[in-house]
Amino acid sequence: MEEIIVGIDVGTTKVCTLVGRVEDGGVLRIMGVGIEPSQGIQKGVIIDLDAATQAIARSVERAESSSGLEITSALVSMAGAHVSSINSRGVVSVTGDVIDEFDIARALDSARAVAIPHNREVIHVVQRGYTVDGQDGIRAPLGMHGYRLEIETHIVTASTATVENLYQCVSAAGVAVQQFVLNPLASAEVVLRDSERKMGVVVCDIGGGTTDMAIYVEGKVWHTIVLPVGGNHVTGDIAHGLRLSVEQAEEIKLQHGYAIRADVGAEDYFAIRPFGEEEMVDINRQEVAHIIEARVAEIFEIALQEIKRSGYDGLLPAGMVLTGGASALPGIRDLASEVLGMPVRIAQPENLNGMVDQLYSPAYSTGVGLLRWALTEQENDRDARFGRRSKRRKSKIDLSGAKDWMKRLLP
Ligand SMILES: Nc1ncnc2c1ncn2[C@@H]1O[C@H](COP(=O)(O)OP(=O)(O)OP(=O)(O)O)[C@@H](O)[C@H]1O
Ligand SMILES: [Mg+2]
Repeated sequence: MEEIIVGIDVGTTKVCTLVGRVEDGGVLRIMGVGIEPSQGIQKGVIIDLDAATQAIARSVERAESSSGLEITSALVSMAGAHVSSINSRGVVSVTGDVIDEFDIARALDSARAVAIPHNREVIHVVQRGYTVDGQDGIRAPLGMHGYRLEIETHIVTASTATVENLYQCVSAAGVAVQQFVLNPLASAEVVLRDSERKMGVVVCDIGGGTTDMAIYVEGKVWHTIVLPVGGNHVTGDIAHGLRLSVEQAEEIKLQHGYAIRADVGAEDYFAIRPFGEEEMVDINRQEVAHIIEARVAEIFEIALQEIKRSGYDGLLPAGMVLTGGASALPGIRDLASEVLGMPVRIAQPENLNGMVDQLYSPAYSTGVGLLRWALTEQENDRDARFGRRSKRRKSKIDLSGAKDWMKRLLP
């Protein structure tokens, strides 16, 4: 059966709604695209409900008219500095002869029982792996013999109020939220290779208002981080430094921007006309690069600090995979590699079918990632139902399902 999935990436600079169809053999075909400038969103967080609702509604309408399909529900991306994550372990004793769904649900429940303040909400419980009777590295414990089941999880939480606001905007735009997906986890679905996840890698999506990171170790997500800084801050610095409007600074960045000052000639000038002025003004390209380098290097320095804090900096042989709109800045790969001291590659969606021309850009990794995430979950569900689990596909669970399990277990 062919199925329609919809993803809405609510970014700081654009809202991107994608309609995908899962064709035979699990191939994803893009049926509709709706890309609209964002409004009412800052650093990944909604600051104006009406403006954000309208931007989302416009993007959804566009995707509807380009696909000819009505959109009623969607996966929605989430970012912002209010997001945080922890790793938690759950332990239970097995009730029957072999490990069944309920044992796993109880183990998950016990992992979730970590102190979560009342003003925070669980967004993801990613299953990282199991230990049965002290034997670790178990991937699929269902049906195994054992007495003691342990589960390793990565739990992502977000501020309830901020989640509610996003929920309200998407609902007001006429779409039911199927699930929220953290930005870097969606992007990772698109840009990471399995071999990189196994080796140890960090995916880094630099957008307009946020830098979203997820660290993968031994194939599983180990740590997630959202930093409230992105390409807009670079633009702001240029506007400030050169006393220009933000619009003009953005244009300069896109047309003349370079991430490494030393690579730009000292005599390299270009001319612009500041708004409201008669005369053209010459601008030194090295000076622009200087401003850009300072901010972008700072972003990677903060990123490195966060990676170190997670305790895994020495163990990421696959380095960083960079994506998001701001990764299109020329020279950013070399700068990142220098600051981080690790290999860096830039990635974007690839091998898509259907209406895809504009999607081959690092700005759309999260949007396409939402569809891939949905696809992965479907495969998980199918595999789980047949009691047979694929290698990396089983690392996530559908939260709604987990909730149901837990409800059944409550007295
Ligand atoms: N060629 C380029 N050079 C430099 N910066 C670029 C280039 N193209 C796009 N950008 C920057 O990318 C940013 C937008 O990226 P993206 O579309 O991924 O953001 P977003 O998803 O809307 O925001 P966020 O994920 O932070 O909420 C802007 O700051 C823009 O200036
Ligand atoms: Mg984004």
